[in-house]
Amino acid sequence: MKSVKKIVYFQALAGSFIFLSSSVALAEVPVNPNVPLAPVLLNLTGKNLNLVKRGSYLVNAVGGCNDCHTNPSYEAGGDPFKGEAEAINVSAYLGGGRAFGPTITSANITPDAAGKPAGLTRTQFINLIRTGRHHEDPTMILQVMPWPVYKNMTDSDLKAIYEYLRAIPSIP
Ligand code: HEC
Repeated sequence: MKSVKKIVYFQALAGSFIFLSSSVALAEVPVNPNVPLAPVLLNLTGKNLNLVKRGSYLVNAVGGCNDCHTNPSYEAGGDPFKGEAEAINVSAYLGGGRAFGPTITSANITPDAAGKPAGLTRTQFINLIRTGRHHEDPTMILQVMPWPVYKNMTDSDLKAIYEYLRAIPSIP
């Protein structure tokens, strides 16, 4: 576990350096240089790196997706709410499964076997965030999930979130 984390951190730092050396992107992509690119090892093959970075910022610094979509959000001994040094539960990162009452459970939003986050195409993902409705059953409205807030994001922000989710490890 320890060595995995080191690799992840190295990869994340390397990502930050790539970012810092690309001057055009610097102005456009919000990144906190004190925070690693992502808490998990990203698969950047075939991804747009600038979109991934923007998406990571929106997911990890703004959206708080980890709070609800990782169960539990923090590793044992790594819960900042208990005053412990933060350790995100990387092995379950955004894998869903957190219950909110008896019937609502957060979804697995990692890429499926085809690489699609939550099994959604980008258009389906954006429609879901904009409407709070899943394309397979538009009569149901997503509960708890703060889509009424996220729906106010720009298309480019939602595309960035989608690109980032494509890059995170898949949890079956
Ligand atoms: C306050 C908790 C909470 C936060 C924060 C949250 N979600 Fe959710 N999300 C949920 C819950 C709960 C569901 C399932 C809702 C339901 O089934 O009615 C869900 C469902 C989803 C779905 C639908 C997946 C599917 O296939 O049905 C997607 C996509 C999603 N969330 C993405 C995100 C992203 C991206 C973020 C961060 C930008 C995020 N969520 C933040 C609670 C949350």
